[in-house]
Amino acid sequence: MLQNLIHGIHHVTAGVAGAQEDVDFFTSIVGQRLAKQTVLMDGPLPIYHLYYTNADAEIGSAMTTFPYGKAGIKARRGSGQVKTTSYTVPSGSLPFWVNHFNESNIEHGEIEERFGKNRITFQHPCGLEFEFIEDDADTRKGYVTDKVSIKEAVKGFHSVTMSVREVEEQDRFIREVLGYEFTGREGQYYQYELNGGGANKTLYVIHEPDLPQGSWGLGAGTIHHVAFAVDTDKELNEVRELVTGLGYTDMSEIKDRYYFHSAYVRSPGGILCEFTTSDIGFTIDESFEELGQTLHLPPWKQDDRDEILSQLEPVTNPQKPLVR
Ligand SMILES: [Fe+2]
Repeated sequence: MLQNLIHGIHHVTAGVAGAQEDVDFFTSIVGQRLAKQTVLMDGPLPIYHLYYTNADAEIGSAMTTFPYGKAGIKARRGSGQVKTTSYTVPSGSLPFWVNHFNESNIEHGEIEERFGKNRITFQHPCGLEFEFIEDDADTRKGYVTDKVSIKEAVKGFHSVTMSVREVEEQDRFIREVLGYEFTGREGQYYQYELNGGGANKTLYVIHEPDLPQGSWGLGAGTIHHVAFAVDTDKELNEVRELVTGLGYTDMSEIKDRYYFHSAYVRSPGGILCEFTTSDIGFTIDESFEELGQTLHLPPWKQDDRDEILSQLEPVTNPQKPLVR
């Protein structure tokens, strides 16, 4: 059964604009740890691939971005995409975040409650929408910065919200392919939970019938895909067999992403979903303490290192290596 193979969100991947703008947003505003600097592994274009995590660099906290500003490629937000990416934060911390957003000129919504949880949305400078949800049942360790203490720090993902023009076939995909259970509706929002739900095991669908179709390709300003965690190559192969057998024969081959292995399938509402192994990880090419300090390339791109570096804008990581 798929619900025994999938363990919740592995990572969420976006196209953003400027690389330094993105580093500054996730490290100084959201307060995540820059845990990996590498490059896009598909195609010839040199594009950074940046990973931001919680203190323990856990999967399920990994927001990853491709900065497309220098390449000048934009994508259109719309239906058929992840609209909102949500993180958990400690209970009672939302007033701190309102103040932090105001001081940092970050656009944000009001604190509101939905599905019994307090939450607030805020915007990345390239227009992406993020959300903080208060959840003390999430025991993962937030990354502490000079601006964000452990009383407020982001623990990891809570969920993503998928925008669709019709709910029915996306609902079926979430239940039958991803193995999540439908657990409630509030207005245009539908909630799905995996193995009891909670942090990192929740999905939402928002029904937006009049929203035009968004881009599928990579570019600045959209979430490109959401990845779901499986254990090893064995489980990834099983998922691939099961999903293909359900009729989703457009599922991709297994791809070597160096830090994990992946396969992708397009869901009926248009949202790209990835299944990703969890047994390799970010410390394959640098120590835990030094994660994210320098650019790392997979072995098959090492010969092109100078050429790649010459085409990337330099990025400054404001965070120092961890001392333990
Ligand atoms: Fe991915």
